[in-house]
Amino acid sequence: MNVLLLGNGAREHALAWRLTQSPLCAQLYIAPGNGGTEEYGINLPVDTNDFAAVRQAVIDHQVRLVVCGPEEPLVRGLQNYFSTDDQLKSVYFIGPSKEAARLEGSKAYAKAFMEEYDIPTAGYRRFTVEESAAGEAYLDEIDGPYVLKADGLAAGKGVVILNDREESKRELRDMLRGKFGDAGSTVVVEEFLDGIEFSVFVLTDGESYRILPVAKDYKRIGAGDTGLNTGGMGSVSHPPFVDADMMRKVEQRIIQPTLRGIQSRKLDYHGFIFIGLIAVEDEPYVIEYNCRMGDPETQSVMARLNNDLMQLLLETAEGGLSSAVIDMDDRQAATVVLVSGGYPGPYENGKEITGLDQVRGSMIFHAGTKSEDDSDLLTDGGRVLSVTSYGDTIQEALAKSYENARRIHFDGVNFRPDIGFDL
Ligand code: AMP
Ligand code: GLY
Repeated sequence: MNVLLLGNGAREHALAWRLTQSPLCAQLYIAPGNGGTEEYGINLPVDTNDFAAVRQAVIDHQVRLVVCGPEEPLVRGLQNYFSTDDQLKSVYFIGPSKEAARLEGSKAYAKAFMEEYDIPTAGYRRFTVEESAAGEAYLDEIDGPYVLKADGLAAGKGVVILNDREESKRELRDMLRGKFGDAGSTVVVEEFLDGIEFSVFVLTDGESYRILPVAKDYKRIGAGDTGLNTGGMGSVSHPPFVDADMMRKVEQRIIQPTLRGIQSRKLDYHGFIFIGLIAVEDEPYVIEYNCRMGDPETQSVMARLNNDLMQLLLETAEGGLSSAVIDMDDRQAATVVLVSGGYPGPYENGKEITGLDQVRGSMIFHAGTKSEDDSDLLTDGGRVLSVTSYGDTIQEALAKSYENARRIHFDGVNFRPDIGFDL
């Protein structure tokens, strides 16, 4: 069958790689895709938030399965658009409904959900602009660091963590007055959790679930987890501190009650749940839910997921996941992300990328790239390429990724030298 994959990151390139390994995938289309996804299918110049354009692409190309990579179309209701359209409702769709995507799209919704189903997470209060004074009074009551979260989607910038109480009050006022637009019209103030983060990915058909390989990502730009937050500078799978005992706790205390909540709220959920977790003294807490896969976690997770991805996604869409068996590669995987100089601040596009033909023994997943005249490959974004490798240990996988990362050049290229430093 023909498949349409929505998105343009290295996450989508990695998904495209696995999807097209399946005999069930006839023709893959990627909208809008990038310079790397062309290797596996046909890029379509379609804006994923333009639902009518997505609809037309599905009809024109006789697509039977749609896989939504990023969260924004889901939070805006793309699944609902499909399920209520006569011509689209029989198309298999991977991604939750608008109501279910609020688990990512509204931090206040997610916190209330976790409270209701007894899922361990940081204590919190929520405030609107009318409750600004109460919010400041709450900040007076608690100890820092102070964690402030804009309720809605804010392009990954909506979480601010501050040590100083007065500064956090100013930040709360600024957020409530529109610093992040409507996303900050409600702000969640939560308790700071001190621990080590990891990412658990679950596929669900709404009834059953399957746990995919566990990963850890590195969000800060600088070595030693310093500097500004980015979309993600690297990932590993499997992080060794997440042992069987921890996974048992995650499954019993977090995944199962999350599924119970989805069922009792009658949320339409056929897709990925990405649970951002933090281990505090060997106890897992939820930092956030996302209604999609992570980037750059997907690159390492897909490396280790040996299943036929098409079959797994069709089971997800049709409600047959209870019979699926996850086949995980025993090897470890590690991803190093090459970014444009200046990122996550301002950077220049259009730099020529060379050295990809020198890469040996790693996979390259593209993000911000575009090909010009079918020959030159140019940078076209902050995160440019992911270098993903296998190894018997994480250290071996990382060494391979770094060896190959050093073979790739573009003006201003930057990568974190210490992915996995804390493992
Ligand atoms: P989020 O967008 O919710 O994933 O938050 C971004 C980052 O902020 C997370 O990856 C954590 O590193 C950090 N963070 C969020 N909430 C907390 C918390 N309650 N305690 C400590 N760190 C947090
Ligand atoms: N790597 C974190 C995310 O995709 O949100």
